Amino acid sequence: MTFTELAMNTRSYRGFDRICRLSHEELEELVKVTRYCPSSGNIQALRFHISEDEEEVSRILGKTRWAGRMKEPRLPHPGKEPTSFISIWVDTTLGYNDQALEKDAGIAAYAILLRAVEMGFGGCMLGCLSDKVMHDLVNEPESMKFKLLVALGKPDETIVIEEAPIGYVTRDRCYYRDENDIHHVWKRPYEELFI
Ligand SMILES: Cc1cc2nc3c(=O)[nH]c(=O)nc-3n(C[C@H](O)[C@H](O)[C@H](O)COP(=O)(O)O)c2cc1C
Repeated sequence: MTFTELAMNTRSYRGFDRICRLSHEELEELVKVTRYCPSSGNIQALRFHISEDEEEVSRILGKTRWAGRMKEPRLPHPGKEPTSFISIWVDTTLGYNDQALEKDAGIAAYAILLRAVEMGFGGCMLGCLSDKVMHDLVNEPESMKFKLLVALGKPDETIVIEEAPIGYVTRDRCYYRDENDIHHVWKRPYEELFI
């Protein structure tokens, strides 16, 4: 797989085959790849929490919101939930610029998704949880500030990239599910990307 193919296959998956779980070693492998990510000031302040225990996964799942731009269907479908989560946190004791670390978290989350797809898995970033909610859900010290959640599993749904005409993509026209539950994600045309 070329890098472009990997990037094209790295979609936001919201339906998973729950029979095929990532092992603890595979989840660790996903965290390991973030060591090679760029880091603001090279402070490497990101910390990771792996959630794989069923009870913890379901507790976190209950606070997540999926494909919020679509009214129907509610996702993930019952029985197609992710089997694990990796939450990305910042060690605030290192005293680094919070806004910069927000960017670090996004970079790390994407590295995790890319590596997951390379390994035959996939996932979805979830930005819908607050620091307070995550602190209530998992046991991490107050010095850790939650940034971003990545849901993971073995994708079990079809996603099609749709080439959007210039000016087509809006907040309400960004993706949709068809009657066969195929997820269509609009991508702006190349010509529209330049200022
Ligand atoms: C920072 C960030 C937060 C996101 N949060 C959510 C979320 O809370 N729920 C969700 O279903 N998707 C979430 N997504 C996924 C986007 O909806 C998705 O990237 C977009 O629809 C394009 O689809 P694609 O990733 O397959 O190209 C998030 C993506 C990013 C980058």
